[in-house]
Amino acid sequence: MKDNQTLPGHIAVIMDGNGRWAGKRLLPRTAGHAAGLKRFAEIAEICSDIGVKYLTVYAFSTENINRSAEEVSGLFSLAYNAIDTYIEKLLKKNIRAKVIGDVSMIGGPLLQKIRAAEQKLKDCTGMTLCIAFCYGGRHELAQAVNAAVSAGEREFDDETIGRYLYTAGIPDPDLLIRTGGEKRLSNFLLYQCAYSELYFCDTLWPDFGRSELMAAIEDYSKRKRRFGR
Ligand code: FPP
Repeated sequence: MKDNQTLPGHIAVIMDGNGRWAGKRLLPRTAGHAAGLKRFAEIAEICSDIGVKYLTVYAFSTENINRSAEEVSGLFSLAYNAIDTYIEKLLKKNIRAKVIGDVSMIGGPLLQKIRAAEQKLKDCTGMTLCIAFCYGGRHELAQAVNAAVSAGEREFDDETIGRYLYTAGIPDPDLLIRTGGEKRLSNFLLYQCAYSELYFCDTLWPDFGRSELMAAIEDYSKRKRRFGR
């Protein structure tokens, strides 16, 4: 970090490009996701080290379930094994973790493992790592409204809705990064990104390292945020 840079308190990332990264190397898509996972762990550690308070990543969308059974099961088992690989590191780094998404789509042993990991990290006071898994922004809004109605809410304002989102208690992202060249939100944090600064780059996610992250933060630090004022 350069001294004159403004650090985003909350960075959200759409980690796109794993499949193309693998394709270029004539590898299966799951190999791209495995490389993407390593990159994710590295970027999370850097964010924690430089003082980012919240990092939210899009690991699997509600729409991704329609990919081939092989790719979906590959991603689920990658997530399962990642918990064993990284849990002690997260604990050591004082990183709290939270999975957001439609957990009914996860189910079974993976969900149990996720809940146990969240429990183990719940008292960590450093960075909060939020992993969007089986996540869709419109679905999140619909479930928030349903949950609010079930709880007896009759009138809705921004604050009320915010309390029923998966991200309740987490500030909105300051900076949203999308790698892989596409320039869209793909149903990610639709409500929360109302005033986020958007940063798009062509780098495929498995190639997105420290210098690419620092370039995004430097770009962010030059933005003038007005929040509609
Ligand atoms: C988008 O790239 C990426 C995904 C659908 C999965 C992202 C997952 C990881 C980075 C793995 C780490 C996370 C966990 C918790 C398992 P794409 O496959 O759409 O790439 P393409 O656009 O090049 O096809």
